[in-house]
Amino acid sequence: MTTNIPGYAYGDPGLVTSPVTLEDLAKLEQTVLWTEDDARAIARAGEILAPRVGRVLDVWYGYVGSHPFLIETFAGADGTPDAGYLGAVRARFERWIVDLCTRTRDQDWLDYQHEIGLRHTSAKKNLTDNSASTSLEIPLRYLVAFIVPLTVTIRPFLAEEITDANELDAVYHAWLKAVTLTASLWAEPYSQSW
Ligand code: HEM
Repeated sequence: MTTNIPGYAYGDPGLVTSPVTLEDLAKLEQTVLWTEDDARAIARAGEILAPRVGRVLDVWYGYVGSHPFLIETFAGADGTPDAGYLGAVRARFERWIVDLCTRTRDQDWLDYQHEIGLRHTSAKKNLTDNSASTSLEIPLRYLVAFIVPLTVTIRPFLAEEITDANELDAVYHAWLKAVTLTASLWAEPYSQSW
C-alpha cells in the first residue's frame, strides 16, 4: 500500500512532538489490558484487513453518511457533503487501519497520534485538505462513541479468514484495545485534564 497519500504525515520531522510520553503510553497500554498476545493478534488483524480496507471504508462511510449529525462534519461551504474532502480523508483512513495493526508504538507513532487528534479539533480540522467545511470540530463525545461502530463492524471482516472462535475473539479484542488506545490519545488535545 502506498504511503504517498496527500496529507499523510506519519514520520514527518515537521510534526509537533506529542505532549504524551512513552511512559504515559505504557500506562495506557496496561489500562486497556494490552499484552504480547495482543501484539501477535493485531498483526494477524493487519494481514486480514490490509486487502479489505476499501470494503471496510465502504461500511464506515455508509454509517457516517446515514447519520446527518455525523456527515455534517464533512459539510462543504454549501452545507452538503464535500466529496473532495471525504475522498482525501478516506485515503488516510484506509492507511490508518494498516498503521494501527503494523506500526511500532514509538515517538513517531505518538507524534502522529497527536497530529490526528489535532485534526479532529478546531486547531487543525479542515487545514490538511484545505477544506472550506462549515464544521470546525469533531465533538469529543462522538470521538469516544465511535469506538463502538469502528469495532463491531470489523468482526465480520475478521471472520472471513478466521474460523476458530478463540482466535477470532483474540484478534477482535486486540482490535478493540488498539482503537480504544488511539481514541484515548486523540482526546488529549481536547482536554486540560487528559
Ligand atoms: C475512534 C474514533 C475515530 C477514529 C479512529 C477516526 C479516524 C480518523 C482518521 C484515521 C482520520 C484521518 C487522519 C489523518 O489525517 O491521517 C480522520 C479524520 C477525520 N475524521 Fe475521524 N475518526 C474518529 C472519529 C470521528 C468522528 C466521530 C467523526 C465525525 C463525526 C470524524 C470525522 C473526521 C473528519 C471530518 C476527519 C477529517 C479531519 C481533517 O479535517 O483533517 N472522526 N478520522
